Amino acid sequence: MIVWDKRYSVGVEKLDQQHQMFFSLINKLEDLTTHDTFLDELPRLLNEIVEYATLHFKSEEDLLTKINYPDLANHHAEHENIKKDIYMECKRVIEREPTAMDVMWLYNYMNNWIKHHILEVDMMYVEAFKDE
Ligand SMILES: [Fe+2]
Repeated sequence: MIVWDKRYSVGVEKLDQQHQMFFSLINKLEDLTTHDTFLDELPRLLNEIVEYATLHFKSEEDLLTKINYPDLANHHAEHENIKKDIYMECKRVIEREPTAMDVMWLYNYMNNWIKHHILEVDMMYVEAFKDE
């Protein structure tokens, strides 16, 4: 289970809330591995995760545009890459009639990228918001 704490705060409430929502969607993936019916529930959850990623990245980029964040192009490119990667990995797992272990793998994959993205990439814009 991935737990949000202050370390992950980017100092913008809306984005912190969205990151928390992301954590809870990713945790649902872990929960799912304990359900016998996970194969029925998995496609909908993965869809929700992919859609939420799109919505969240757009919110983040809109706010970064508002403050004229100088590194927006790179941040946008990183988001596009993540969206592609998540989509591909979800598709790959769904197409092979996944076992609970495959779903666990996907959970770990998403857990790692969101931690990395918030702590290494999103943190780079924290100062820019403070200057506003
Ligand atoms: Fe981001």
